[in-house]
Amino acid sequence: FSAFLTDSFGRQHSYLRISLTEKCNLRCQYCMPEEGVPLTPKADLLTTEEILTLARLFVKEGVDKIRLTGGEPLIRPDVVDIVAQLHRLEGLRTIGITTNGINLARLLPQLQKAGLSAINISLDTLVPAKFEFIVRRKGFHKVMEGIHKAIELGYSPVKVNCVVMRGLNEDELLDFVALTEGLPLDVRFIEYMPFDGNKWNFKKMVSYKEMLDTLRQQWPELEKLPEEESSTAKAFKVPGFRGQVSFITSMSEHFCGTCNRLRITADGNLKVCLFGNSEVSLRDHLRAGASEEELLQIIGAAVGRKKRQHAGEGWARRRPGWLLKLLLMLQDSP
Ligand code: GTP
Ligand code: 5AD
Ligand code: SF4
Repeated sequence: FSAFLTDSFGRQHSYLRISLTEKCNLRCQYCMPEEGVPLTPKADLLTTEEILTLARLFVKEGVDKIRLTGGEPLIRPDVVDIVAQLHRLEGLRTIGITTNGINLARLLPQLQKAGLSAINISLDTLVPAKFEFIVRRKGFHKVMEGIHKAIELGYSPVKVNCVVMRGLNEDELLDFVALTEGLPLDVRFIEYMPFDGNKWNFKKMVSYKEMLDTLRQQWPELEKLPEEESSTAKAFKVPGFRGQVSFITSMSEHFCGTCNRLRITADGNLKVCLFGNSEVSLRDHLRAGASEEELLQIIGAAVGRKKRQHAGEGWARRRPGWLLKLLLMLQDSP
């Protein structure tokens, strides 16, 4: 495996997440303010060609999975073309997308033809009115249509990302699990992550342990499944159900030790951690005519600076782990 993509703790980064745009057609409360995020001028965004150049380089060095993210990746007009071109890269085994699902039913047939292999869809509630409250836009039925289209076209499992928020959708956990009885879904309950943009709202967080307790009351036979290495999710299954449920425990049990991800932002910055700042503008180096070798040196240096745990800004970094655990314990007690 490439030394450029291996950090000082021996973690090999074979999974690249590329953001195609910062724009989004929804305004989820925990993600964006009503007015949206300040937009990067188009000239500053990576062009399709630049995305491909970078992807080619990373794949040559050992990346075998690329996930397209956003904002909302499906609002980028050339998304199908990007997938098609990525699909031609030898060595790339998985091309995934994380989408809010609004445009999915419409675009999925083309995306599948282009080579899209995995789909994660964000959906925090099964109640249409609540959906509109959380995302501040209409579209619940479109998302459901997208989920069903993905199943119909043979994606399995279709991952559904559900951010669990106290007082908002924590009462829907069992309804989400019930969906997995007949559908090949992987419903992934995500611990809400407080951060600057949502005012560090810790009260909204429901921990993995608490969610698991809720599920076990209804289905004591809930069975733990072995998980893939470097997975962000702990997987479970109700015996006999077609699908499964997982937990993404970003807050209570971070998974930094097996992290294999790197990110490129829509304007071409390399990030080595979700919680960290940008390390370097790959776009600027590309546009200044850097050679492949020079780019690799720059990428390698950034990967070499990756911290052991949640690097960069943020609550988790500035507070010791035991304090977080204590807070969660206090929150869990009745
Ligand atoms: P798979 O590739 O299917 O495993 O998906 P994923 O979990 O990597 O990606 P997705 O875009 O579906 O993200 C779901 C959730 O995973 C996000 O809301 C985050 O909470 C969490 N997540 C994704 N990447 C990271 C990461 O690098 N660090 C941390 N701490 N959490 C992450
Ligand atoms: N906490 C947890 N998950 C979040 N997501 C966005 N913001 C947060 C947050 N503050 C989720 C989205 C999507 C995934 C990529 O990240 O719901 O499913
Ligand atoms: Fe943010 Fe995703 Fe919601 Fe859009 S759909 S506002 S990017 S969380």
